[in-house]
Amino acid sequence: MTPPAHTSPLPPDGALAELAASCAACRRCGLAAGRTHVVVSRGNPRARLMVIGEGPGAQEDASGLPFVGRAGQLLDQMLASVGIDSQRDAYIANVVKCRPPDNRKPTPEEMAACRPWLAKQIELVNPAVILLAGATALEGVLGVKGGITKLRGQWRAGEGEGLEGRWLMPIFHPSYLLRNPSREKESPKWHTWQDLKEVRRRLDGEGRP
Ligand code: URA
Repeated sequence: MTPPAHTSPLPPDGALAELAASCAACRRCGLAAGRTHVVVSRGNPRARLMVIGEGPGAQEDASGLPFVGRAGQLLDQMLASVGIDSQRDAYIANVVKCRPPDNRKPTPEEMAACRPWLAKQIELVNPAVILLAGATALEGVLGVKGGITKLRGQWRAGEGEGLEGRWLMPIFHPSYLLRNPSREKESPKWHTWQDLKEVRRRLDGEGRP
């Protein structure tokens, strides 16, 4: 973003490395058996914006980094279109940190097993704004099922479970946007652009609920 929003204090020394090591050793659910890498995060742990997606795909599993495949490239482009650099201005993670087979949606049990890791990430990074990319992120983080078409673009004030004082914004998942590439007015991509402009406004305004 311009100017860079590196304003949050760094998480305590070693805390993120410790978290990554704990995740690498995690066997809390069956997804551990099929993984190449545990995919914890990329981006800036001092960013005031956190992006949460569903879970790693093939490229993320192979590289150990979230959102590096086609969906990730689109996410980066869309963030850049509102002046947000995904490496400098955002911290990116997923609801589950191991790849579900055949890219299926993670089960509620898998999401619950992985939840403490995500909760720790939120605590350490302390983002003011959280972007929930897709229905699974909305479900995994806020427990709200379905209705991403209706719920996207609406701010939610975080409540409980380490979310107090944060603003959360559900958006369409970039994989959905890859399948719906139109940029016409009222298209999913157009709506996502409006949502991201709103996120940018919130980040610029320092607002907290
Ligand atoms: N989709 C996600 O939700 N997360 C990733 O890391 C990659 C694709």
